[in-house]
Amino acid sequence: MSFTVAIDGPAAAGKGTISKAVAAHFGIAHLDTGLLYRAVGARVLDGTDPEHAAQTLLAEDLDRNDLRTPEVAQAASKVAAIGAVRAALVDFQRAFARRKGGAVLDGRDIGTVICPNADVKLFVTASADIRAQRRFDELQARGLATDYDTVLADVKARDARDMDRTEAPLKPAEDAVLLDTSALSIEDAVQEAIAAVAKAKEPS
Ligand code: DC
Repeated sequence: MSFTVAIDGPAAAGKGTISKAVAAHFGIAHLDTGLLYRAVGARVLDGTDPEHAAQTLLAEDLDRNDLRTPEVAQAASKVAAIGAVRAALVDFQRAFARRKGGAVLDGRDIGTVICPNADVKLFVTASADIRAQRRFDELQARGLATDYDTVLADVKARDARDMDRTEAPLKPAEDAVLLDTSALSIEDAVQEAIAAVAKAKEPS
């Protein structure tokens, strides 16, 4: 039987860590849909047309080792505003969501557009300052040269682009459980997410 968990939210709110932990806890598959947009963005930086890049995306494009760079993140956010790019990625995401045994998908429009009938929807957020600090710590730990103000400006630019676009803008689904991780440890945020999913799994 399929059981779909939709987890949306802005950059660096903690949804990646939460999604992986939820998937591991319930023994279900996980798809980080941001990686699809990052892979398209990376191919566009290589000179490919965005729509063509999305329509011809291959599994190995998701294995590139440059997908987590700030440049690719910005490129991903830009290609994500193009309707034809989004349309080319819909079927793959919906098929993944229907996997037997269940699936967790995280992104920006999973609860609103890709899986409006998901069994449970979470909207994970945190203040821009806290998200920038987390992303800055992560980039530093990976040895990438950067400074906090640049990271904060990047987070805000991506928020604005992701929320203000006409195609599938980032916003909580009406029936999403809101999870603000600003004042939570990652362990507590994960526990809250697991509790929300467990509640949805209970027979009503
Ligand atoms: O989750 P992420 O930071 O890896 O996502 C990178 C970009 O991809 C993000 O800025 C917006 C876009 N994206 C999207 O528009 N829809 C999704 N479901 C996932 C990501």
